[in-house]
Amino acid sequence: MRPSICVIGSANIDLTFRTPRFPQGGETLTGHSLHQGMGGKGANQAVAAARLGADVTFVACVGNDAFGTEAIRQYQADGINTDYTRQDNDNPTGTAAIVVDDQAENCIIVIPGANASLSAADVRKAAKAIERADAVVCQLETPLDATLEAFRIGRAAGKLTVLTPAPVVPLPDELLELCDVCVPNRTEIEVLAGRAVNSHDDAHAAAKVLIARGVKSVALTMGGGGAYVVDGSEAVHIPAVNVDAVDTTGAGDAFAAALAVSLCEGRSLRESAHRASVVAALTVTRIGTHAAFPRRTEVDKVGQASSLP
Ligand code: RIB
Ligand code: NA
Repeated sequence: MRPSICVIGSANIDLTFRTPRFPQGGETLTGHSLHQGMGGKGANQAVAAARLGADVTFVACVGNDAFGTEAIRQYQADGINTDYTRQDNDNPTGTAAIVVDDQAENCIIVIPGANASLSAADVRKAAKAIERADAVVCQLETPLDATLEAFRIGRAAGKLTVLTPAPVVPLPDELLELCDVCVPNRTEIEVLAGRAVNSHDDAHAAAKVLIARGVKSVALTMGGGGAYVVDGSEAVHIPAVNVDAVDTTGAGDAFAAALAVSLCEGRSLRESAHRASVVAALTVTRIGTHAAFPRRTEVDKVGQASSLP
């Protein structure tokens, strides 16, 4: 059966500046190229999940401006239900300035704009869509009370709750207790667990801290270092799929979306993390986020070639 995913979160316009390296304070640096596309962690997850064949509803807030209208048009072109993607009259569509260097690493500045007005009331209006879905997927680029409300509704209806804790802030216990799968990167888990992560043992220990705080399972993404999945019964390292990376932006969002879709399709956490690694790997081989997310057929092809260790 086709999995149904409700994503609650952010929508941005991404301006990506490719440069040889990151500039220093006071420096003027000549870059390689400029790319404009749709982004935002929430929209990235919605589009990535839709490309993988999920039935997606996106609960979000964009501006009542040309970017906001174009964003909604593009979500619809990906088959996403935008009934709860609101156009806010008071704030512009969120914007991200992204610098990507020759190592494919990125630095991002986000101006939230309309994202900051996504409210718990907006989420409650979408309660039916959350209750109809198999999974609720959130990030932290929109106000925390909206995320909390989404997870409360999701948990009460017995849905899978998936959180990308980015941009990271210290989180209330209630949110962690409502979270089935937390998908941090290294920086994020270090903040949430309050300890440094420099080895697999550290990763395991940090994941255990989150589990002790109420999260059911953790899928830690470590870029080229692969992923580390921990739940009550097992801890497994999933090696990264080896590719030539040009832009790592949105790889974490694609990973989380793919993990959610795959779990809803009935695969185990370990199998799902492997499939999510394939999706993330394909994403980093192309510039941008939405423009880079693979379709299911491409993932199936690569997934067969790179089997689980
Ligand atoms: O995670 C990548 C995303 O972060 C970008 O698309 C940008 O919009 C920021 O939200
Ligand atoms: Na990319």
